[in-house]
Amino acid sequence: METRKRLGILTSGGDCPGLNAVIRAVVSHATLTYNWEVLGIPYATEGLLKRKSVSINVHGLDLRGMDPLLSTGGTILGSINKGDTEARAEEVIAGYHDLGLDALIAIGGDGSLKILHQLALQGGWNMVAVPKTIDNDVACTERAVGFDTAVNTIVEALQRLTFTAASHDRVMVVEVMGRESGYLALHAGIAGGADVILIPESPYSIEEVCRKISELRDRWGRNFAIVVVAEGAKTSGGKGESRHYTDAQGQVRLRGIGEYVADQIARCSGNQIEARVTVLGHVQRGGMPSAFDRLIATAFGKTAVDLVIGQQFGQMVAWQNGQVVSVPLQEVFTNSPRFIDPKDPLLATARALGTYVGNPIP
Ligand code: F6P
Repeated sequence: METRKRLGILTSGGDCPGLNAVIRAVVSHATLTYNWEVLGIPYATEGLLKRKSVSINVHGLDLRGMDPLLSTGGTILGSINKGDTEARAEEVIAGYHDLGLDALIAIGGDGSLKILHQLALQGGWNMVAVPKTIDNDVACTERAVGFDTAVNTIVEALQRLTFTAASHDRVMVVEVMGRESGYLALHAGIAGGADVILIPESPYSIEEVCRKISELRDRWGRNFAIVVVAEGAKTSGGKGESRHYTDAQGQVRLRGIGEYVADQIARCSGNQIEARVTVLGHVQRGGMPSAFDRLIATAFGKTAVDLVIGQQFGQMVAWQNGQVVSVPLQEVFTNSPRFIDPKDPLLATARALGTYVGNPIP
């Protein structure tokens, strides 16, 4: 009897909504169309290191006839968001071979996919990648799984905050994630009607932020304002007012920009303005995936399996011009992380509507 080919699948880096929908699509297509066996690797490289795997089959995915993976957040496989794999690279590489994998589908962001790609090259793995991150900063793809849901989550928060801001004549400063990329802040800020959007790619001046808030009051009689600040936003002096700090695992983290901006707004108004801060934090990574994230997760999962079957390894599935395509991982890493282009039409759109989005870059 012919032995079934074995496909590994793992999720790496920070979680986001839509990961389970990718897993569901991969398992369904690989088993139903091609009769491959699928092994889930728990906690990415940790699972490979410890030779751990769980067999996933299409019938194991449902819950009394329901199919919860399409709509549940997080990842059933678990994930890790720290880069200490280098020291144990040989062991991790051997894990792939010891588990008898014929190919591996890795779902990850820019950082974790880079590490996995190196391991794949070093260890002769047959790997195909699927991009996911709420930051949307993976190059060569207009969308990564998770971004759309996070934007929707922020927009909902902005709408809720607008009512309370208006009731108390306050400025609400909302700090959002994104590391050094401003996609989350810009997209959610525009869709949520923010008055000020501060992103890392377009340095801001606090005087302009305060001028915008005064203009709202003096010219339009509006006594509240909504300010969205990306965690990596910087002033025109080039300083990042977020405190970069290194956590116990040696990872660099960003925090504090929301407090800083709110404090500066209060100061420039001579404490006449009451500013409050909301740090959305990991709320942005939770929840049910949006319809669009389910759609690209499903299309990405299906295409990743097709690439495996076609033996097109070292590729990443990507979303370009409304379609799923594939791009060489090498090209992705040459251009990642991806930042907002100063000529991005959305920046011009926000400015045209009077939103302050930092100072134009010459
Ligand atoms: O890269 C995704 C992301 O959510 C960033 O936006 C954020 O800075 C970081 O991960 C938070 O990481 P962690 O969950 O490890 O604290």
